[in-house]
Amino acid sequence: MKSDKSKCPRHVGIIMDGNGRWATKRLLPRTAGHRAGVKNITSVVEAALNAGVRCVTLYAFSTENRGREKDEIDALIDLIRKHIKPMTRDLIARGACVVFSGDSSYFPSDVQQLMADISAENSGSETSVNIALNYGGREEIIRAARLAAESGEITKESFERELYSSKLPELDMIVRTGGEKRLSNFLLYQAAYAELFFTDTLWPDFDAKELLSMFEEFNKRTRKFGK
Ligand code: FPP
Repeated sequence: MKSDKSKCPRHVGIIMDGNGRWATKRLLPRTAGHRAGVKNITSVVEAALNAGVRCVTLYAFSTENRGREKDEIDALIDLIRKHIKPMTRDLIARGACVVFSGDSSYFPSDVQQLMADISAENSGSETSVNIALNYGGREEIIRAARLAAESGEITKESFERELYSSKLPELDMIVRTGGEKRLSNFLLYQAAYAELFFTDTLWPDFDAKELLSMFEEFNKRTRKFGK
């Protein structure tokens, strides 16, 4: 893609789907797919930021993922425990600030502490990586409505101030890998006018080249915002 950063989506949400199938195709346990999925994050996020994206939101653990088999949940939490610091250190080193969306109280206290440590390192940079952990769009909406009501009248402004994403740029684009064509409770409020991109590529195989070709397609779309 020619680097016309002004035409780049400001905020891209990524549903990293297909880890389990990637592993099954290789006769490996599902957790091997999640491991390969984690390895893939940094290069894709860096490609987005280099292209001029100001924020990438990663759907890393949904509220619905809590319904998976205990072994798989434990493995996912272990992966977060092991990789969140090194992964975010690389992103922070290249100038991004790392933030989280979701209810972190679900996670063991050491993982909550890792998240708090990472949040404390924030430089206030203009580019951010938002990691959605124990995140659900419906829960976010209910929470924001409750908090807005507690502090007075619910208006668009008071409600949006209480969203996890309140300080992040407008969501322009959602990418879902793994072939399914649905939002699965991801950024439901923010997705109102986002351009949706679906690919059959399984998350561990998704790469910068495919992301950049989606940005080219994004630039060709006419966005009317209902007008
Ligand atoms: C969906 O694949 C993916 C997930 C449920 C987890 C995604 C999480 C990561 C890539 C790790 C996050 C870790 C850090 C450190 C941020 P699936 O299991 O639903 O795949 P399937 O549809 O093929 O079964």
